[in-house]
Amino acid sequence: MPKTEPRTTVTDANYVGRISALKGLVVRVDIEAKQPEEGELLAVDGCPGVFLQVNFFEGSSAVCVNINNDIDLRCGLKVSATGKKVSVPVGPDTLGRVFNALGQPLDNGPEITSNRKVITEASGIKSYRKAHSAELLETGLKVIDFMTPFVKGRKIGIVGGAGVGKTVLTMEMIHNVTRDNKKNLSIYCGVGERIREGNELYETLKETDVLKNTVMFFGQMDATPAIRSMVGPAAATAAEHFRDEEGRDILFFVDNIYRHVQALTEISTNFGLIPSEGGYSPTVYSELRRLQDRLSSTEKGSITSVQAVYIPADDLSDPAVQSIAQQLDSVLVLSRSIAEQGIRPAVDLLQTTSSLLTPQIVGQRHYDLVAKVQAIMQKYDSLKNIIAIIGENELSPADRQDYQNAKKLISFFSQNFAVSEHLTGKPGEYFTREQTLSGVEEILGSDPSKTDKQTKDQPEAKPGDSNQTDAQTKEE
Ligand SMILES: Nc1ncnc2c1ncn2[C@@H]1O[C@H](COP(=O)(O)OP(=O)(O)OP(=O)(O)O)[C@@H](O)[C@H]1O
Ligand SMILES: [Mg+2]
Repeated sequence: MPKTEPRTTVTDANYVGRISALKGLVVRVDIEAKQPEEGELLAVDGCPGVFLQVNFFEGSSAVCVNINNDIDLRCGLKVSATGKKVSVPVGPDTLGRVFNALGQPLDNGPEITSNRKVITEASGIKSYRKAHSAELLETGLKVIDFMTPFVKGRKIGIVGGAGVGKTVLTMEMIHNVTRDNKKNLSIYCGVGERIREGNELYETLKETDVLKNTVMFFGQMDATPAIRSMVGPAAATAAEHFRDEEGRDILFFVDNIYRHVQALTEISTNFGLIPSEGGYSPTVYSELRRLQDRLSSTEKGSITSVQAVYIPADDLSDPAVQSIAQQLDSVLVLSRSIAEQGIRPAVDLLQTTSSLLTPQIVGQRHYDLVAKVQAIMQKYDSLKNIIAIIGENELSPADRQDYQNAKKLISFFSQNFAVSEHLTGKPGEYFTREQTLSGVEEILGSDPSKTDKQTKDQPEAKPGDSNQTDAQTKEE
């Protein structure tokens, strides 16, 4: 809120009561007159721009969160009801704009007061998935198109510890997916990450003319946990509007969804609630599910999301990370040991999983290749330990071949990024899905011109593949 706002004065009609206790972000208001609603914003007399959000009631007190926490409050101050809940502007006027979680502009543009929606009220339409045929979107990134296909209306997670390249990979995806189709509607949601990164993305999108079809929401690391926990629902509200009211297909990017969990946990710690497994807030898992559920596709339109997920202390078994991963269709795991070898993107091919890798979605040829790559990577993992003891020369010729192929695959899946050209000095690379599949076939020594049968969705596969196994032929 601008600091020029007139002093908030309490009138008899909206007078609620007085602040009776303050502890961190938590403000207790003793209700003397008007009973506020849960989630309602309360104003404090003489403190413009301060808003207390009613969280729950205890006896005759309202326990609130001080959303902005930038002005010192004290006990005894008068509090009044505003009759409003946190809302964000939605619709075409928001395109090309940047907002915070309260729907206030961050781009020096005018405030949008009309057509706003309360962020906690999910769209009335039930979130069942449209039974549309899976539409593959090409990202031009070999490892993503191959291991975790980007399917319209589905969720993909980029999971990794600190500094392994989640943000750079997310930016590259935005760059590649929006480069050909500048009409794509994108929503970017920055939660608890670096302020500089948001700024850089804004400038890049502006230069490439993608900004005019993008809406951005930020609650970065300098924001209070209340703001950080609201930015996800705020962006989801904007996405739901475009999906349900305008029937649009939306690309939804979040960096970083783990910070949403962290913000909710910080708030619950402020309230003194007993944490659940892993020290997280007791209701964090249900709140996370509610948010993920809002980011699904309906019969009207689709939301395709890319979510960066931070792994605390590189521990993939962290309960919050596991909970997030369960709600994603594909999980691309970035590993520190691979990043240390200078391989970018630093994808761990063994840990990376996708429920979308089925012959129906990606085609038999792609499906068979992934199975072969996974088998070879599994073997590589166990051979590495043997080689450490006896050396590579002692391996059988077949094992040595597989070991070499696995190494070739690892370097094949690395590629230069357009968004990191200023770091590496090398121009970005874009590979079509066909180039990726034939590249893998070349390494595995299978010639696509000898494919046994041509599958329906794989016009590129030619008859007569001598490398198909009996099992695969039976499956067909
Ligand atoms: N594809 C790439 N090419 C060159 N350098 C890269 C690439 N990906 C990541 N890096 C290097 O790694 C650094 C960290 O990457 P990035 O900021 O994406 O990590 P992160 O996983 O988002 O980290 P954090 O958890 O701190 O947000 C970058 O600043 C860059 O120097
Ligand atoms: Mg990052």
